[in-house]
Amino acid sequence: MRVVIEPTAADVAERAAWIVARLVRFRPDASIALPTGRTPLLMYDELVRLHETAGLDFSRVTTFGLDEYRGLAGDDPRSFRSYLRRHFLDRVNVSPEKTHALDGLATDVAGECAAYEERIREAGGLDLALLGIGLEGHIGMNEPGSSLGSRTRLKTLTEHTARAAIGAFADADEVPRQALTMGVATILDARRCLLLATGRTKSAAVRHAVEGPLTSQVSASALQLHPDVQVILDEDAAADLARQAYYRAMELAQRALE
Ligand code: GLP
Repeated sequence: MRVVIEPTAADVAERAAWIVARLVRFRPDASIALPTGRTPLLMYDELVRLHETAGLDFSRVTTFGLDEYRGLAGDDPRSFRSYLRRHFLDRVNVSPEKTHALDGLATDVAGECAAYEERIREAGGLDLALLGIGLEGHIGMNEPGSSLGSRTRLKTLTEHTARAAIGAFADADEVPRQALTMGVATILDARRCLLLATGRTKSAAVRHAVEGPLTSQVSASALQLHPDVQVILDEDAAADLARQAYYRAMELAQRALE
């Protein structure tokens, strides 16, 4: 794991956007998994800025939403699909037929999940999985206990996750209790993973993911198995890491080589 500690959340966003931009320039038909939540918002803004000011071209890029609430239509403003359109996809020139999302209203959920895996395969696999991290260390909606070998499927959300989502809903009762999500193994199949975390509330989850044991209780810890991962943190999210000084030294050495 390459652990990169940046001064601020804006620097995290800038670095992540720079990595996405470099991939898209080098590989215009890249396929990318996209997260939702508060964390990636600044990165999406930065990608939109690069599109508008530097001509970053997404026309051949394929995107896959990481997860979707069960029971919400894609055009429901509270769905993850709407979030991705609002904050990113509708603001750049991604072609609509190349943006994929899980259908929260699918009646055949297992079929929908298997078809999603197939669509990822048809796209040539994921070149990049962009990830946030939940308070309990989940990636996508892979809640504690998720098999490290899991594929796209339905998951029941923990109380923690449901509480964290309340902001987007009128009251706690409205928060969906289940979500369709790429599995841990689906994410690990991506050729490259970027995990972004900002703010003090994420520091414990980050510590468990980066320095804790590999465990299904913290699905982000499975990234330790992946050969090409960058964990990009602001100072607050890195605050609980025991080896901060080491990561900083490693990063300086790495940047000197690049
Ligand atoms: C949800 C999303 C995850 C996201 C997490 C953290 O669970 N499904 O993809 O990483 O929230 O969200 P935030 O960035 O708002 O803390």
